[in-house]
Amino acid sequence: MSLFITFEGGEGCGKSTQARALWSRLSRCGIPVELTHEPGGTVLGNHLRRLLKRKRQDEISPQAELLLFAACRSQLVSNVIRPSLENGKVVICDRFADSTTAYQGYGRGIDLATVTATNKLATQGNRPDLTVLLDIAAATGLSRKQVRTKDRFESEEIAFHHAVRDGYLKLAAEEPKRWLVIDATLPKARISRIIWDRVTQLLQAKNMSNHG
Ligand code: TMP
Repeated sequence: MSLFITFEGGEGCGKSTQARALWSRLSRCGIPVELTHEPGGTVLGNHLRRLLKRKRQDEISPQAELLLFAACRSQLVSNVIRPSLENGKVVICDRFADSTTAYQGYGRGIDLATVTATNKLATQGNRPDLTVLLDIAAATGLSRKQVRTKDRFESEEIAFHHAVRDGYLKLAAEEPKRWLVIDATLPKARISRIIWDRVTQLLQAKNMSNHG
């Protein structure tokens, strides 16, 4: 029995902190768990992450960007996600295909049918059992990032970040059973508790909670 959990949200929403906290709690319970992230998580993915995040003179076209994220995902699914799920682990992924729908679909304006078809190819049919959306107003999220120099995405106009947030909320409304939407401005410990409650329910449903 395996469980696939993804974390999503706009810039500065705190999802990486919550993904690590969940990984740590599951590990302490003795539950086999793999934590990974996108873009990245493989040698190829880490190269592409640097290319995608660095500000550059030559523009990356929206379509090229879509395909680069898809390449990262395809490699991560083949090397990490699918084998871990096949081994009965809980897999936690910090961003997954919904990031592409929110950023390249709603943010960049690539038509959603194209994004869906590309995601299908890259994920090889692996879909999350649970997706945690840490929802935050774009300006609040961006102001929480204490960054030295902004990357390509952080440098986008605020309208882009509004579109990404609206996209996430639409995705969550379309599939309320899969998505857990949490106000990202709540205290960190409270957010962790809300996530843990949902995860323990899922583990019980899958009979994976007898480790601790
Ligand atoms: P992060 O790992 O610090 O969240 O940075 C990843 C950036 O890449 C973030 O700005 C969101 C963006 N992104 C996309 O635009 N599409 C995608 O499919 C993924 C995985 C990330």
